[in-house]
Amino acid sequence: MRLIMTLLAIAALPAATFVALDLCIPKAAAATSDADALYRQHCLACHGENRLGGAGPALLPESLGRLKPAEAKKVIRDGRPASQMAAYGHLLDDGQIQALTDYLYTPPAVAPQWTDADLRASHRLLADVRKLPDTPQHGADPLNLFVVVEAGNHQVRILDGDRFEELAKFQSHFALHGGPKFSPDGRFVYFASRDGWISVYDLHNLTMIAEVRAGLNTRNLAVSNDGRWALVGNYLPGELVVLDARDLSLVKRIPAKGLDGTISRVSAVYTAPPRDSFVVALKDVQEVWELSYAGTPTFEPRRIPAADFLDDFSFTPDYRQLLATSRKAKGGQVIDLDSGKALTDIPLPGMPHLGSGIYWQRDGQWVFATPNVSQGLISVLDMQSWKLIEEIPTEGPGFFMRSHADSKYAWTDVFFGPNNDAIHLIDKQSLKVAHTLRPMPGKNAAHVEFTRDGKHLLLSVWDTDGALLVIESDTLKEIKRIPMNKPSGKYNVGNKIGFVEGTSH
Ligand code: HEC
Repeated sequence: MRLIMTLLAIAALPAATFVALDLCIPKAAAATSDADALYRQHCLACHGENRLGGAGPALLPESLGRLKPAEAKKVIRDGRPASQMAAYGHLLDDGQIQALTDYLYTPPAVAPQWTDADLRASHRLLADVRKLPDTPQHGADPLNLFVVVEAGNHQVRILDGDRFEELAKFQSHFALHGGPKFSPDGRFVYFASRDGWISVYDLHNLTMIAEVRAGLNTRNLAVSNDGRWALVGNYLPGELVVLDARDLSLVKRIPAKGLDGTISRVSAVYTAPPRDSFVVALKDVQEVWELSYAGTPTFEPRRIPAADFLDDFSFTPDYRQLLATSRKAKGGQVIDLDSGKALTDIPLPGMPHLGSGIYWQRDGQWVFATPNVSQGLISVLDMQSWKLIEEIPTEGPGFFMRSHADSKYAWTDVFFGPNNDAIHLIDKQSLKVAHTLRPMPGKNAAHVEFTRDGKHLLLSVWDTDGALLVIESDTLKEIKRIPMNKPSGKYNVGNKIGFVEGTSH
């Protein structure tokens, strides 16, 4: 009997082996060069039906905006280290990988949909806020915490801003976008991811509260200064989504439809605390929107017609005026938010990055300084007359700029080009470069954020083997180095909820 069993088992072996091998051999893949079929066979399990995402990110043309086709092809061939994205180079030939790449950059035959039902089905409540203590449970100063986004491995770390020790670390959704935002008391922090996932995290209890997928491709979010509403700006579908900030349940969807009927992508949303309103930048229609959240809001947009497509906003400290990049103005345009009228054009060279610009006081006047992503210079403007006061040459185009009311320097990176390991310290009064640091030579020095008291700052070295450096603002001495994988932004709770000068909002 035993012999028969053994014989049967052996007889069964070749067939089983054959099936197993057949799964591994690229035979089935080679049988078709049809990219859609390849996608279904190899990629759908993770990247989802219609490429909307799943365990892996969405792979729609909108999703891949920041990834060059050649890089996407390399990812498919070689995989991404330390992730579920395996290498397909041994399974698919070059023609198939090329076909798949082309396919990913082509819009799907049927435009992707994200219905109310999809949105609601994605909503997850992870903790009941009413059952959690409403005081900080971590012993650190709740207004001097830092939320650090580690882009290289999609992690978020919460740091104590006095001791520079880590209090918590968690996985974020793929590719956070646009900087986390805070509730007015600093207890809750909100994240938006490229693929539309919005999450709310409780900094008092160091725990995630809720998440929802508010769209398929999202730019950023804003939180009202009464802490009631979160507004999400989406590229796909082109709309705004209002969520209840307490649990991220859906309140309202507002198609970003211009007066001419065009459905626009939403470039960015902002909160304007003194106005009790959200301000919205639209990519494809020549309008700026303001949505009041005072009283019992209806979220009907007030439309401010513009003479150009306006993008990338910055605001005066009182939020009366808005500064936007404008191609027609060959630089920036200033809009008065009360009258809705364009006040002036500000011709600026290259491509100013106004959203990263900061303001400070110089000789009793507010000045505004902006980095430039295409030229090595910082433009400094008088915020009264909007005249250019100074053009400060730098070692290359930059991305971020930061300061603190108690710091004499404005810190700006040289994000692009061969000198991207340099960081300039601009004297806020003389408007000259006072120091140039190279914190980790050969590695990209980037975003800076100050502690609440301005005595220290955290600097990102944006590299796979990068680090977060803690620097003393007066002596410029490095006092701590925390290794990290591409730390991007970091956000100080007190500075952010105070909308203080020197940081972007
Ligand atoms: C086992 C799950 C899984 C499978 C199967 C899979 N991927 Fe991925 N893929 C991922 C994950 C997870 C990432 C994100 C990796 C990271 O953290 O950067 C990713 C990333 C990518 C990216 C980079 C996206 C970006 O925005 O950076 C591309 C392109 C991609 N995958 C294409 C494919 C293709 C084409 C296939 C099929 C041949 C495939 N993937 C199969 C999980 C998977």
